[in-house]
Order: sequence, then structure tokens, then C-alpha cells
Amino acid sequence: MKKRRTFLLFSFTFLLLLSLSKADSDGDLSAMLSLKKSLNPPSSFGWSDPDPCKWTHIVCTGTKRVTRIQIGHSGLQGTLSPDLRNLSELERLELQWNNISGPVPSLSGLASLQVLMLSNNNFDSIPSDVFQGLTSLQSVEIDNNPFKSWEIPESLRNASALQNFSANSANVSGSLPGFLGPDEFPGLSILHLAFNNLEGELPMSLAGSQVQSLWLNGQKLTGDITVLQNMTGLKEVWLHSNKFSGPLPDFSGLKELESLSLRDNSFTGPVPASLLSLESLKVVNLTNNHLQGPVPVFKSSVSVDLDKDSNSFCLSSPGECDPRVKSLLLIASSFDYPPRLAESWKGNDPCTNWIGIACSNGNITVISLEKMELTGTISPEFGAIKSLQRIILGINNLTGMIPQELTTLPNLKTLDVSSNKLFGKVPGFRSNVVVNTNGNPDIGKDKSSLSSPGSSSPSGGSGSGINGDHHHHHH
Ligand SMILES: *[C@@H]1O[C@H](CO)[C@@H](O)[C@H](O)[C@H]1NC(C)=O
Ligand SMILES: *[C@@H]1O[C@H](CO)[C@@H](O)[C@H](O)[C@H]1NC(C)=O
Ligand SMILES: *[C@@H]1O[C@H](CO)[C@@H](O)[C@H](O)[C@H]1NC(C)=O
Ligand SMILES: *[C@@H]1O[C@H](CO)[C@@H](O)[C@H](O)[C@H]1NC(C)=O
Ligand SMILES: *[C@@H]1O[C@H](CO)[C@@H](O)[C@H](O)[C@H]1NC(C)=O
Ligand SMILES: *[C@@H]1O[C@H](CO)[C@@H](O)[C@H](O)[C@H]1NC(C)=O
Ligand SMILES: *[C@@H]1O[C@H](CO)[C@@H](O)[C@H](O)[C@H]1NC(C)=O
Ligand SMILES: *[C@@H]1O[C@H](CO)[C@@H](O)[C@H](O)[C@H]1NC(C)=O
Ligand SMILES: *[C@@H]1O[C@H](CO)[C@@H](O)[C@H](O)[C@H]1NC(C)=O
Repeated sequence: MKKRRTFLLFSFTFLLLLSLSKADSDGDLSAMLSLKKSLNPPSSFGWSDPDPCKWTHIVCTGTKRVTRIQIGHSGLQGTLSPDLRNLSELERLELQWNNISGPVPSLSGLASLQVLMLSNNNFDSIPSDVFQGLTSLQSVEIDNNPFKSWEIPESLRNASALQNFSANSANVSGSLPGFLGPDEFPGLSILHLAFNNLEGELPMSLAGSQVQSLWLNGQKLTGDITVLQNMTGLKEVWLHSNKFSGPLPDFSGLKELESLSLRDNSFTGPVPASLLSLESLKVVNLTNNHLQGPVPVFKSSVSVDLDKDSNSFCLSSPGECDPRVKSLLLIASSFDYPPRLAESWKGNDPCTNWIGIACSNGNITVISLEKMELTGTISPEFGAIKSLQRIILGINNLTGMIPQELTTLPNLKTLDVSSNKLFGKVPGFRSNVVVNTNGNPDIGKDKSSLSSPGSSSPSGGSGSGINGDHHHHHH
């Protein structure tokens, strides 16, 4: 009795599964007929059998579920049927190098889809839910399509197994989303988004990413590239033709870096020794920036694209900079190499119309950088330029303390650091030096109350020293 019930139950389940699977393969059949209609391939294409599993370039399972559509490079001209998303066992959709037009339909829910190749077609739009539920997706190639402007959609977050994402020349706008970092995309290895309209900065969340190939060249990206120093899997970095700025980061962790293209940006500061000593480096492009300091010398195994006159190096061939230039570069370093200084401070003689510099007989007597949007700190290196008479750094965003070294300048008459964010005890200057520290709310306090993110809290600790002593006039 019990046995028979079990048998009936078993047969019922079997028939149910069979009919469900029949329904699924019928669904695939009608979706494929719908696709054939929209793509309208020539009769010579081999899609005439009533059973789509017998069509050329189509792969099915034993139960007639479609798993692969591989019709790249086939001269197809039609559009894609929205019924594509009914092919719930589809693993590969390869349509690259055709002339398929119209919208890319939503593929939402195709949880088996691993590979999507739509590059080099005429698709005019891509929906924002295109990646919704594509939890098996490993590779997306949608380069060279005349899409209407679109942003990398939130729906991509469902595709956390992604290894390759390539959308060069695909009219992508907006910013590079922070979610592309290693927390959500631990396996991402190729990120190619060149020749789009991306703007904004590289998200810090890319730190720790094991991306190997990063192409972001040819758009409007800004900000610095510090995050690269934490992307230690990088082999190929193409950032040329953007609006990146700031000094180059520490490359010592990028042990596999082979190709680094930074030309046609606004990078400042010297080329770091950590880049010059990379064993893996093969190609580097640095032309058209505001790089400073000595002309870099790469190993002979490196192909170097570096037009020396298109940067702000001190000499036109390798060699040490003048001691005055060295000092000024150290000063600029503690301001994080501001672009206005890097554009003006070219060559090896600071007494030739460098912005903010005045000289007498080839000696620097004045450094006047008022209202230059400076950030960072005041370098102790000011103390090395013994000829200095006036230092004017008012109305900037400088933080830190006034270095003790400045008190040793024998010819100093004026130090104006008013309207900044300096803190700490003002060191003791000679009585004939006019020191203006007005407009620094925390001067005289131990630490800044405008504590920057990550630094210690302003509570406690402040208020000691010479609080309130804002303006020093010693005569
Ligand atoms: C695809 O699925 C949708 C929703 O289940 C259905 O309405 C449509 O008829 C299907 N298309 C085909 C061609 O079977
Ligand atoms: C696409 O169509 C254009 C003309 O409309 C034609 O020149 C081109 O060869 C076609 N490309 C392919 C891959 O069929
Ligand atoms: C990712 O791209 C690389 C290089 O083109 C290729 O070798 C690899 O097969 C791709 N991965 C997938 C999952 O398609
Ligand atoms: C990009 O998108 C914008 C707005 O949708 C459109 O005007 C422009 O023609 C597109 N560019 C390309 C190269 O397709
Ligand atoms: C897909 O993303 C949506 C939000 O965009 C989320 O609600 C959903 O849980 C995700 N699904 C999977 C399978 O990750
Ligand atoms: C980045 O790397 C530096 C060392 O190169 C390390 O000190 C820092 O914590 C890292 N930052 C992140 C966000 O991983
Ligand atoms: C980068 O430099 C290499 C070697 O000089 C050169 O072959 C390549 O074309 C350059 N890339 C760009 C984008 O200029
Ligand atoms: C200081 O920084 C703030 C915030 O970035 C900015 O709004 C302000 O204009 C800066 N002040 C000066 C004097 O550069
Ligand atoms: C100023 O320059 C002259 C030569 O041009 C040099 O002898 C002198 O030491 C310099 N003075 C200072 C204070 O640097």
C-alpha cells in the first residue's frame, strides 16, 4: 500500500517535471522563432529547421533548452526580440560584429547567462535593468555601439561574479561607480571604459581591487590617482587624455605593472623613484603634463613617451636641479604640488618670472603665494633659503604648525600666514620680524579643532599654550 502510494507520487512528480520541462522548451522554441523574425537572417543562414536546436550556431541541452547563441561576425541587420529574456537557460549570447540595431532588450532574470557579447553593432540604447538578476555573468563586451547616453546601472551589482567589463566608445556618462571595488566585485580583472563621457574622480573604494587592465582614457575624469597605489594587480593602466591632476602616487606595490599611460593630463610633481625602479615596466607615456623636478631616467628596457618640453622639468635632459629649484620643489611638495605653481615653475632659474617668486641678484628674496588655494603644510625647507626677506602665505587653507626652522632665516622681515587653518605654538622669531597669524582660529592650540576626517577628535587637548595670542608684532 505504502509502496504503491510512493510509486504514484513518484510517477506524478516525474510527469510534472517532464511537462514543466516541455513547457520550458516550448518557451525557448517560441522565443527563438521570435528572435529569428526580428533578426531576419537570410535563408542561407541555416535557420530554417522547425527545431531551433538544429539551427547553425545554436547550442541546446538534451532537453532542448537553448544555452548558446553564437552568431557574431554574421552580417546580421535586424533587431533583437524582447523575448530573448525567456531563454532562461541561456549561458552565452554572442552577437558581436553585426549591424544589429534598435534597443538592447532587458535580459533581466537570465540567471545562467555568463557571457554577453554585443560589441560593434548599431544598438541605439541599453536599458538600466539590463543586468538585473544576471548572477552568473562573467563577461560583458558592449564596445562601439551608438547608445544614447547611459550610466553604469545599479543593476550591475547583481553580477558580482564579473571578470570582464568592456564598454569602450559606448557613450557612457556619469561617474565611475564606487561599487566596482573589491567588496562587491572581487573577481573583476578587466575594466575597459575608454572613449566615453565619464567625469568625476576615481573612487577610493577601488583600493584593494585586483583589476589587471584599466582603460579610462579619452574622457573628462578629474582628481588625483592616489588609489592606484592600492590596486596592486594592475598590469595595464591607460588614463591618458583626461583631466587628472596631483602628484603621481607610490608605484612600489604594483609589481606587475607593464604599461602606464598618463599622457595628456595635468599631473604635477616629480616622477617618483618607485616608478623608475619597477622591474616589470615596459611602456610609459608621460608627455603633456606638468611634471616637475629632474627629467626621469627609466631602464633601457622601457619604451618612454616623454616630450621633455611638454612638462615642467628643470632641465631638458637628465641631471640635478639647481639648489634653489630643489628647495622650491620641497616647498611645493608640502602643498601637494599645486597646478598653478607647476604650470609656472618651469626650468632651472626661479628668478625668471616664476609665479610668487621675487629675487635680487639671483637670490630668492620673496615668496608670495597669497590667495592661491594652497592646501597642505608649510615646509621647513623655507628655512633653507637664507636670502628670504618676505614670506606671504595668507588667505589659503594651510594646516599644521609654523616650522621652527623659519626663525633661523637671517634676513627675514615679514611672515604673513593670516587666514589659514594653522595651529600650534608660534615659534619665537627675532623681535624685528613682523609675524601675522590673524585668522587662524586654532593658532596657539595644540591641535586643530577643524580636525580632518580620520584625525583625532578636537575635544580636550586644546586650549593650552598661548591661546588668543593671534597677532605678533615684535618691535
Ligand atoms: C516570454 O515570456 C513572457 C512572460 O512570461 C510571455 O508573455 C511571452 O509570451 C513569452 N514570449 C514568447 C515568444 O513565448
Ligand atoms: C553595416 O552596414 C553598413 C551600411 O549600413 C555597411 O557598410 C557595413 O559593412 C555593415 N557591417 C557589417 C558588419 O555588416
Ligand atoms: C575576459 O577577457 C579575457 C581577455 O580578453 C579573455 O581571455 C577571457 O576569456 C575573458 N573571460 C571571460 C569569462 O570571458
Ligand atoms: C551620446 O548620447 C547623446 C544623448 O543621448 C547623443 O546626443 C549622442 O549623439 C550620443 N553619442 C554617440 C557617439 O552616440
Ligand atoms: C539584485 O539587485 C537588487 C537591487 O538592485 C537587489 O534587490 C536584489 O536582491 C539583487 N539580486 C541578487 C540575486 O543579487
Ligand atoms: C593603501 O596602501 C597603503 C600603503 O601603500 C596603506 O598604507 C593604506 O592603508 C592602503 N589604503 C587602503 C584604503 O587600502
Ligand atoms: C605610449 O608610448 C608607446 C611607446 O612610445 C607608444 O607606442 C604608444 O603609442 C603611446 N601611447 C599613446 C596613447 O600615445
Ligand atoms: C578652503 O577650502 C574650502 C573647502 O574646500 C574652500 O571652500 C575655500 O574656498 C578654501 N579657501 C581658500 C582661501 O582657498
Ligand atoms: C646672494 O647671491 C650671491 C651671488 O649671486 C651670493 O654670493 C650670496 O651668498 C647670496 N646670498 C644669499 C643670502 O644667498
